[in-house]
Amino acid sequence: MKEDIKSILFSESEIKEQVEKLGSQITQDYAGKKPLLIGVLKGCYVFLADIARNIELDCEIRFITASSYGVSTISSGDVKVGMDFDFEISGRDVLIIEDILDSGVTLSSLKKIIADRGAASLRICTLLDKPARRKAQIVPDYIGFKCPDEFVVGYGLDYAEKYRNLPFIAILKPEVYS
Ligand code: IMP
Ligand code: MG
Repeated sequence: MKEDIKSILFSESEIKEQVEKLGSQITQDYAGKKPLLIGVLKGCYVFLADIARNIELDCEIRFITASSYGVSTISSGDVKVGMDFDFEISGRDVLIIEDILDSGVTLSSLKKIIADRGAASLRICTLLDKPARRKAQIVPDYIGFKCPDEFVVGYGLDYAEKYRNLPFIAILKPEVYS
């Protein structure tokens, strides 16, 4: 696995520090509320596990699936959202937890679906913000790190379902996917 890595972009300790900061910011901002955290699988699973433990509030945790990639590093633009929401969104303070915001196509579809279901409020928390390839007009409310225009893996992020278990975020060698 490590031989496929070009360089480490964000180390385990940098991520931990940043996730703690985000968690305490969210704790303050949602004081007195019971936010509904919706994780966008599968990439969010590590980030959500860590940030949820830094949010000192009663909160509900749910997951949905969304993907626009398949085995590719370029977003297909064709978003597949797992639509079987088996939980109530109406009246809830929804906080979407994403691993990375790239084209924004996934989140703009998702935002619309959640708003249509009558959320009281809706914010986005993304670990990584990669603005270089933004197509949809989406501005995240909470950002862990700005990400350069590189394909990154680790800490939940994959390429073709590999590398999710790396404890840091790394740039993959382009020859791995070209
Ligand atoms: P968007 O719809 O293009 O914003 O796609 C966002 C989704 O694409 C993320 O939730 C990731 O699953 C995936 N993605 C975007 N950039 C990367 C990357 O650099 N590495 C791994 N996955 C990525
Ligand atoms: Mg994802």
